[in-house]
Amino acid sequence: MSKLTIAIDGPAGSGKSSVARLVANALGYLYLDSGAMYRALALKALQRGVSLDDETQLAKLANETHIELTPPTPEQEQSGIKNRVSLDGKEVTEEIRTPEVAQAASRLATIAPVRAVLVAEQQRAGAGGGVVMEGRDIGTVVFPNAELKIFLEASPEVRAERRWKEHQEKGEDMTLEQVLEEVRERDKRDRERKVSPLVRARDAVLVDNTAMDAAETARLIVMLARERERELATAAAGRKA
Ligand code: DC
Repeated sequence: MSKLTIAIDGPAGSGKSSVARLVANALGYLYLDSGAMYRALALKALQRGVSLDDETQLAKLANETHIELTPPTPEQEQSGIKNRVSLDGKEVTEEIRTPEVAQAASRLATIAPVRAVLVAEQQRAGAGGGVVMEGRDIGTVVFPNAELKIFLEASPEVRAERRWKEHQEKGEDMTLEQVLEEVRERDKRDRERKVSPLVRARDAVLVDNTAMDAAETARLIVMLARERERELATAAAGRKA
């Protein structure tokens, strides 16, 4: 059966990473979190004190940085980690999951030359197919020919609540209002930026999971993927005949 490239895009808290990981596991595909790459680069910029307005320095930094995504260890998977992230050879899987890094990532993601470097990395990482990649521009820019594209949505309140629960579980002290504000600010920047804004690709299936959990959403996407795999296999068999 031919393996697909599956693109899942959507705003913060739409459940992309949980859903994409479940879909990848069900299909035996590789899962790649493109946002983790923006976050890792943002962490490096923050650590080095590079201004998030300095486009030239940030583009240079992107060119000099090596970011790698690998599957989590069984222990990491148990604690909800979906991709292991290494930055210049050092593991930063957990360090990149803070609101400060998320905001910085959203800011440097507005810079075209930075995106060009990371998009090329993402294209290389997913080149073989059999991959579920999630982000903001996967179906529009990174893999415009993906055989299955999903655009995940959920109400801002529900998305903020999901993020707030994650912060609570980690013992982080943020109010639901603060998280909602952070989500709204990032949404606005990600949707309104000039380069590769978060938009639904014309051929993406819109899935609103406001009232669905990750497992239900994943089951739906796996069904769509299996259907697509069958269609492609039938088309390939037709070409051979
Ligand atoms: O998915 P995430 O919340 O970890 O992403 C962090 C930020 O990175 C997000 O606010 C915007 C940016 N991003 C992007 O611009 N393009 C992607 N494909 C993935 C993330």
